[in-house]
Amino acid sequence: MNHYFFQQNIFEDSLAINPLFFKKIKKVKLQKHKEVQTSFWQLLDPDLINEINEYLRFYFLNIAKELGKKDYKIESTWIQKYNVGDYHNLHLHEKDKNSYSFILYIDGSPKSGTTRFFNLGYPYISLYELEIKPQKGKCVVFLGCLPHESTPSKDNKKTIISGNIKFV
Ligand SMILES: [Fe+2]
Repeated sequence: MNHYFFQQNIFEDSLAINPLFFKKIKKVKLQKHKEVQTSFWQLLDPDLINEINEYLRFYFLNIAKELGKKDYKIESTWIQKYNVGDYHNLHLHEKDKNSYSFILYIDGSPKSGTTRFFNLGYPYISLYELEIKPQKGKCVVFLGCLPHESTPSKDNKKTIISGNIKFV
């Protein structure tokens, strides 16, 4: 019997918390948009971007190895903060096979909104669902075209760094 299957990847790990770095991220002034506060449409300080990249480098290289790739490129980075009632509608990022996205939780509590991932084709097809709870230092890397959403927060703690990366 042959067994064929298609696989989509989601990686999760808890990274060492660097209190000064995390504090600096929480202080970044963000613009308020409809659902959430985000830096998505603003330019972040290049030094801060470098610091973020350095912090994530070892973890991303490990994932590259897992995927049989040599390296990666960070294509975009943004910071987002969720206050009470803030959420992020169902969406997806880049559609390329080697395009991944990441979420690093800078802060969060059990009352903060969760990140819910769904199978490709959702909401037309509903097969699998995975819920990730925000926790300081947790970092999730996932295939960029996986549909995902953030459920409404019940506190003002959830802060994330998110972005798109390409494995090469
Ligand atoms: Fe997203």
